Amino acid sequence: MFKELAAVYPGSFDPPTNGHLDIITRASKLFPKIIVAVTDNASKQHMFSLDVRVALLKEASAGLSNVEVVSFSGLLANYLEKINTFILIRGLRALSDFEYEFQMALMNRNLNKNIETIFLIPDQDYTFLSSSMVKEIAALGGKTTGLVPECVEKKLHK
Ligand code: PNS
Repeated sequence: MFKELAAVYPGSFDPPTNGHLDIITRASKLFPKIIVAVTDNASKQHMFSLDVRVALLKEASAGLSNVEVVSFSGLLANYLEKINTFILIRGLRALSDFEYEFQMALMNRNLNKNIETIFLIPDQDYTFLSSSMVKEIAALGGKTTGLVPECVEKKLHK
């Protein structure tokens, strides 16, 4: 079934982490095409602009030929309708992610009944990893090696 479909992996990716990349890699093996859709999350303050986040994700996923990185604004459900793709990928790290993800999946389905959300679990090495922690560590001069792709690390420590 999956073989005929593209899937969208949406997020704010501020910044992209190795956990995000792990999910992108897993998804790229399941679907012929993965669209990584970057947007602003209204409930977060972003460190990097949308354009920078897109550029970082493009560089980090350059080795995956079936991955495309785009940005969108407005409702995710409307963007999916526009590109006629209704499979969403989201990563689940721990039980603490579940409530937010569950609510978002059901709300998206409420907005458009065709939307299905598929949850992927990252490698256990990344279950503790979050963009906000990476930003805090970098801001306080800590090491982020192994937590984020190299291009992100360079940008963080500039
Ligand atoms: O990586 P994040 O910040 O957890 O991703 C959340 C994101 C960007 C996917 C979500 O906030 C979103 O879909 N924003 C677009 C606006 C929208 O559709 N909001 C309603 C979601 S049910």
